[in-house]
Amino acid sequence: QFRRRNIAGLLKDRLPARVVALMREAGELADRLEVKLYVVGGIVRDLLLGIDNLDLDLVVEGNGLAFAKALARAQRGQVKVHERFGTARVTLADGFKVDVATARAEYYEYPTALPTVEQGSVKKDLYRRDFTINTLAVRLNRRQFGELIDFFGGERDLKGRTIRVLHSLSFVEDPTRVFRAIRFAVRFDFVLSRETRALIQGVVKMDLLRRLSKHRLTDELQLVLSEREPGKAIALMDELEVLACLHPDLELTPRLRTLLKATEEALDWYRLLFLDRPMESWLVYLMAMLQVLPDQAVGEVLKRIELSARQEAAVRAGRFGGHRIFRELGRRPAVSPAAVYRALSGTSDETLVFLMAKSKSEHVRRQLSAYVTTYQRMRPALKGDDLKRMGLKPGPLYRRILSKLLEARLNGVVNNEEDERALVRSLIGGRKSAVDRPEPPF
Ligand code: CTP
Repeated sequence: QFRRRNIAGLLKDRLPARVVALMREAGELADRLEVKLYVVGGIVRDLLLGIDNLDLDLVVEGNGLAFAKALARAQRGQVKVHERFGTARVTLADGFKVDVATARAEYYEYPTALPTVEQGSVKKDLYRRDFTINTLAVRLNRRQFGELIDFFGGERDLKGRTIRVLHSLSFVEDPTRVFRAIRFAVRFDFVLSRETRALIQGVVKMDLLRRLSKHRLTDELQLVLSEREPGKAIALMDELEVLACLHPDLELTPRLRTLLKATEEALDWYRLLFLDRPMESWLVYLMAMLQVLPDQAVGEVLKRIELSARQEAAVRAGRFGGHRIFRELGRRPAVSPAAVYRALSGTSDETLVFLMAKSKSEHVRRQLSAYVTTYQRMRPALKGDDLKRMGLKPGPLYRRILSKLLEARLNGVVNNEEDERALVRSLIGGRKSAVDRPEPPF
C-alpha cells in the first residue's frame, strides 16, 4: 500500500464518510480560492499504519486564515483565529474540529511589501517538523485529491518502522522532541535510526534536557508515561540516559522493573473494575520510579517537575505513606472494615493503585481491594436532613452520628435504613433533647 501515489481509495476505506466528504468539500473550496490545500501530519501517518486518528490538520499554501473563515462559512461552523501564528481552528456544527495553518515559508520581497507565499512552501513547512513519519501530506484539491506527498522519505520510514529526524539540529531546536521520539518508538514499536539515536545521546550529553522548563518537562513526562506501555517507554528512556534528566541516580534497576510490572497489573485490575473512572495512571508510574530513589532524591525530582497540589499529595502519599497503611492493614487478626476505611479514606485512587502494586502481602491487598471496590463509596442511608426530621437539632453532633452510622454500615452492624434509625435512636438515648446535652453518650 505504501507504493501507491494516490491514496484516495485508502481515505475512503479507512476514514468515516463524513470526514472524507469534508476533505472533498475543503478541496473544492481551496480550488475556488485558488490555494493549494493539504492534510498533513499524524492523521496521514496513522492512516498508512491502519490506526484510527481523526485529527484533521490542514495546511494551506496561500492565505490560511481566509481559507479557514471561508470553510467555517461554507460548513456553518465557527472559526477561532490565532492571527500571530497564522493558524485557525474551525469547529463544525456537529462539534468536529479542523485545524488550519498557513504554510509557513513566507518571505518579504522588500521590507514594506506584503508577504508573498512561495510556491511549494508546504515543503518548508513540513521540513520544520520532528520526524520523517510526521511529514507526510495528502493533497485535497479536486484534481489531485488523494495524492500522497512525501518529500522526506516518510513512507520509507513507516515501512522500515523507523523514527528519523529530518536534520541534525532537530533536537537542539526543540529538546522535547527527545520525548516525542521515545513516545512514537514505543507506541508503534519502531526503532530509532542510528543517527537519531546518536543525536539524542548528544542532547543528553549537552545536558539540554535538564534545561527544559519545569512546565515543559512535566508535560512531556506526562505524555510519555500516558502511552499504552509506559514500562517500555521507561526502559527506552533508561537506555538513552534520558531518565537522568529527572535525577542522576534514576535507573531502571531490576527492582524498578518488577515494580513497573506490578504497577501495570494493578492498573489493569483498576481499569477492569472502573472503565470510566478518571485515573491519572501516569502518576502511578511516577510513584514507581520514585520508589527506587532515596528519600532526598524524591524531593529533588519533585522540585524538577510541576505537579498540582493534588498530584503532589498523591505522589508523596504513594512514596511515603505506605508504611503506616501497610502496618494497619497488615494486622492479624484482620482489622474491621471501618478501620480499613479510616486508614485509607482521603487517599487518591492513584495512590491506592500504587499501594496495591507495592504491597507484597496478599492479606493487605485483599483489604485494599475491598476498600476500592466497596468501602470507599459506602454511605449511610440517612442524611443530615433525615436526622433533622427525626427531631435532632443541627450541629456538630450530626457529623459524629453520621460517622457512627457509616462505621456500623461498614462493619455490617446495620444493613438498612430502619437499622440506622434504630441506631440513631439508641445513640441519642431515645431523647429528642439529647442534642442539647453537653456530652453525647458515645
Ligand atoms: N511537532 C514537531 N515538534 C514538536 C511538536 C510537534 O515537529 N515538538 C510537529 C509534528 O510533526 C506533528 C505536528 O507538529 O506531526 C503536530 O503535533 P502533535 O499534534 O503533537 O502530533 P501528532 O503527531 O498528532 O502526535 P500525537 O499522535 O501524539 O497527538
